[in-house]
Amino acid sequence: MTELWWKSAVVYQIYPRSFADADGDGMGDLQGIIDHLDHLAELGVDVIWLSPIHKSPQDDNGYDISDYQDIDPLFGDLATFDALMKGVHQRGMKLIMDLVVNHSSDEHAWFQESRSSKDNPKRDWYWWRPARDGMEPGTPGAEPTNWGAAFGGPAWAYDEKTGEYYLHLFSPKQPDLNWENPEVRQAVYAMMNWWLDRGVDGFRMDVINMISKVLPLADGRLTAGQAYADGSAGYINGPRNHEFLHEMYEQVFAGREDMLTVGEMPGVTVDEAILFTDQERQEVDMVFQFDHVWADRGGDPWRVFPLQLTVLKGIFGRWQAGLAEEGWNSLYWNNHDQPRVVSRYGDDSPEFRSASAKMLGTVLHLHRGTPYVYQGEELGMTNYPFRSITDFRDIEALGQFRQATEIEGRAPEDVLTVLRARGRDNARTPMQWDDSPNGGFSSTTPWLAVNPNYREINATAERANPDSVFHYYRQLIKLRHDEPAVVDGDFTMLLPNDERLYAFTRRLASTELLVIGNFTGETVRAEIDGWEESELLLNNLPEAPDGLTMAPWQAVVLRRTR
Ligand code: NOJ
Repeated sequence: MTELWWKSAVVYQIYPRSFADADGDGMGDLQGIIDHLDHLAELGVDVIWLSPIHKSPQDDNGYDISDYQDIDPLFGDLATFDALMKGVHQRGMKLIMDLVVNHSSDEHAWFQESRSSKDNPKRDWYWWRPARDGMEPGTPGAEPTNWGAAFGGPAWAYDEKTGEYYLHLFSPKQPDLNWENPEVRQAVYAMMNWWLDRGVDGFRMDVINMISKVLPLADGRLTAGQAYADGSAGYINGPRNHEFLHEMYEQVFAGREDMLTVGEMPGVTVDEAILFTDQERQEVDMVFQFDHVWADRGGDPWRVFPLQLTVLKGIFGRWQAGLAEEGWNSLYWNNHDQPRVVSRYGDDSPEFRSASAKMLGTVLHLHRGTPYVYQGEELGMTNYPFRSITDFRDIEALGQFRQATEIEGRAPEDVLTVLRARGRDNARTPMQWDDSPNGGFSSTTPWLAVNPNYREINATAERANPDSVFHYYRQLIKLRHDEPAVVDGDFTMLLPNDERLYAFTRRLASTELLVIGNFTGETVRAEIDGWEESELLLNNLPEAPDGLTMAPWQAVVLRRTR
């Protein structure tokens, strides 16, 4: 049996600005979360992860923090936060916070000091560099390296006051903190200890595999047709990443019990993830890898490729095998940066939305690892029907649209096609609570439009219908809590070359589970022998399956003992 509690836990992510608006300003808030805690308790999740609620100019919806130890007035105050934490703990759940320390806001006092003069004691808390040799500071191409920023434009901003540039891997309002400086690290650890002392149960760590940069900072590879280079070799999983995370563990988590830490790590490899999550090394408990959500991306960022199921299976198979002995997987389809999975890898038409949402949930939750449910996923919420670029609010979508159409000369309609499929605002439309105006999210026009399908797809309707996605997710979560093979069983992928069925077994001692998911709208027979005498634990359709013949989008979980 496992001793690490989070191996049998399910985490629920809340994106506070889109969850529930209690004070009627069109923006979700902490009181709104408090008002809906029973929804989460009924779902049965063990942990709630809150996307950032700290004080912030909201340039990147709170991933730009100007005070790490205060709550943004948009969301409430520290007293409301404490009440929320109490409500979560009273219901037997835990609460983890987002930790955004690769960068701060440019409005953080640390950066204000840092930019004030070259000899300010905090100058070195951020990455300041002069213009490229022989170039006029502030002119195009004079940036210290050729890296592009994630939201478009160069990764360096020129600051006239001191005539130097600062690094920002994301927006210019998100300057990167210099983790080489031990004072920065101590300040971050002190802040983390302050939250844990207050009662929170851990952290989800934003882009935490970007905190160690390769020195000296150097140009990246420039691809034809792109305005700026991909600098990721200079900052993904840099040379001191493991050292920094181990130091953080020692100074923050050592001696504390029942914490949960998960590091967001775009571009992390299986081999690196083993090191990051091996408990003996004392770094983090698990990481968010990206391979399976980049499976429809191909080499060209401006094309959407249809999902190839064999590719997806190859990815999960590699991660399951890689972290089988040491380390631990996180499991997710959705978060605030990803389109809705039922629209992406399922079928969100009225006929198959519910079945395919449940099938996707089944396949994910039955893997070995800790599943994460993103708000609305338990309702089968779908992508939003964006008409034009003016429907988007996300800094990434707007920045990338500008760069692609104005600088790189791409056709706006082609860029929109990709943003519709992949844009982050798909995940950020307000939570659909009921069929009243604004989906019961707010009494006024929300900051981002509610998906017009809220009249059919909403929490009230889902809770009233025993066959809903919501009640099916409850069963999935309960199965993880009740059946040790779901938590600890080993994993074997079946039918790796099949483009239609996703099938695998989990085995623990004498118990074996068989999971099959049909990723198509057609009836498909699974050629798997020996399960005639098994017990049907879960089935996402009203009618029982005919042997191992799977109806469109059907999923089953079978159990046998030997
Ligand atoms: C990852 C976060 O999930 C995303 O929303 C944010 O824009 C970037 N990191 C920058 O903080």
